[in-house]
Amino acid sequence: MDTEYHLYMKKRYRRMAPVYDAFDLLISGIRDKVVDLADPGPGLKVLDVATGTGKQAFAFAKRGCQVTGIDLSEDMLRIARRKNRYENATFEVSDATDMPFGDNEFDVATVSLALHEMSSAVREKVVLEMLRVTRPGGTIIAVDYSLSENNPLKRIIDFLIKSFESKHYPEFAKLKLASVFKQFGIEIENEVPVLLGTVIILKGRN
Ligand SMILES: C[S@@+](CC[C@H](N)C(=O)[O-])C[C@H]1O[C@@H](n2cnc3c(N)ncnc32)[C@H](O)[C@@H]1O
Repeated sequence: MDTEYHLYMKKRYRRMAPVYDAFDLLISGIRDKVVDLADPGPGLKVLDVATGTGKQAFAFAKRGCQVTGIDLSEDMLRIARRKNRYENATFEVSDATDMPFGDNEFDVATVSLALHEMSSAVREKVVLEMLRVTRPGGTIIAVDYSLSENNPLKRIIDFLIKSFESKHYPEFAKLKLASVFKQFGIEIENEVPVLLGTVIILKGRN
């Protein structure tokens, strides 16, 4: 059932889908770093949550992983499917708060640049679902803004981001991504700051 949140996101990404990959150029260097952290190998089963146009999923597929990307937005996934050159990458329309997968199905679950635009209630459900579908001992990786510190560069970027981000972003901006992991008892193994520390990649163990 579509809630106000779902309708808002679908509408937002219907507008953004045609231009989203231009924004991806700014962050394309992060994709391989995420894959490296996951200890990739042939057959590693990876779920990319809120995959958008699929750029992170493609980076895993290129390294031989069996990757599934899910997203709410059919418009974003249409682009992912059109650009998909990998037999080992598949995409499904699915709400990450209620995933169509069994328990412990994946070795790795990732979410890139999506937690910041979810309401806290949605974010909590998404993280719980990521933990449910990832096997015990498996890897959880999240990539997101890291702008909560009082540093002049971060304050300027935070101000710019607020002009185009979702209405839920200001609440996330006060948090540290690590606190989201800690809230769910995810043990943090690695923190990799990127893009002058304005974005952080967190790797945790389920
Ligand atoms: C900023 S884009 C990030 C896309 C991609 N992960 C990346 O790194 O480029 C955020 C994506 O989250 C998706 N999204 C938001 N809430 C979602 C939910 N509950 N379930 C699945 N996807 C969701 C949106 O549709 C959008 O494609």
